[in-house]
Amino acid sequence: MNFFRRHLRFCALGFFMLFAVSALVQCRPEAEAAPDGAAAMTALESFEVVYGVLQHPRCMNCHPGGDRPLQHDDHQPHAMNVQRGPDDRGRFAMRCDACHGTGNLPGANMPPGVSTGWHLAPREMVFEGLSRHELAKMLMDPERSHMSSDELIEHVTSDPLVLWGWDPGDGREPVPTPHAEFAAAFRTWIAAGAPAPPEEEAQVR
Ligand code: HEC
Ligand code: HEC
Repeated sequence: MNFFRRHLRFCALGFFMLFAVSALVQCRPEAEAAPDGAAAMTALESFEVVYGVLQHPRCMNCHPGGDRPLQHDDHQPHAMNVQRGPDDRGRFAMRCDACHGTGNLPGANMPPGVSTGWHLAPREMVFEGLSRHELAKMLMDPERSHMSSDELIEHVTSDPLVLWGWDPGDGREPVPTPHAEFAAAFRTWIAAGAPAPPEEEAQVR
């Protein structure tokens, strides 16, 4: 009898544990689905990676706030008074392709180049001086970006001007975030609806 009762207790304990475990298992999907915050965090963390790359000198130097390209890691205005010009390809004799060819010229302080033609990003696609909030909004604003989400992903994945940031020629530091990580972060951010970080966190420069 005693033996039986002890077993019964065991069984009861067993059932209780089974119940507890199954309750936990059933709860899990809810717990995962519940906090929208978790998904948004991932999107904003991804944007942080994107932002870090876009603010890197290899990228920002061609996306300046003004009408002159920038140079070097301290964003100096381009030497020789090079200007944007009406088509983002220079002014008068100072055309970008007068010096920038279809590939990087070897040696320090030699002009870099890409196969598709070196030129400045249009005035609306400024990266310089934008907060996280402003840059996220800019990328998704059809007035300024004129690229759809798919075109943006395509651009950051395979455009020669972007890829140049990881192969910038002698004497220039490449972007430190691996390109695959940057492209994946960009995709994650867009897939999550491209949320902009809140304004107040954003004042960096
Ligand atoms: C030689 C100049 C140059 C460099 C260097 C450059 N870009 Fe650009 N970027 C451009 C031009 C030009 C465009 C516009 C392309 C178009 O409209 O087809 C552009 C557009 C973009 C866009 C689209 C912006 C928008 O609002 O739609 C992104 C994103 C971008 N570049 C990212 C980068 C990244 C990341 C780097 C560095 C790894 C970089 N760029 C380096 C010239 C440059
Ligand atoms: C007279 C020749 C000349 C012209 C014209 C010229 N560049 Fe340059 N550019 C150079 C040289 C040389 C360098 C390399 C400077 C160095 O590394 O010290 C350079 C570097 C750059 C860099 C720096 C990249 C970096 O991250 O440090 C950018 C961006 C750039 N040029 C954009 C342009 C654009 C855009 C145009 C046309 C609007 C242009 N340049 C016209 C000679 C020229």
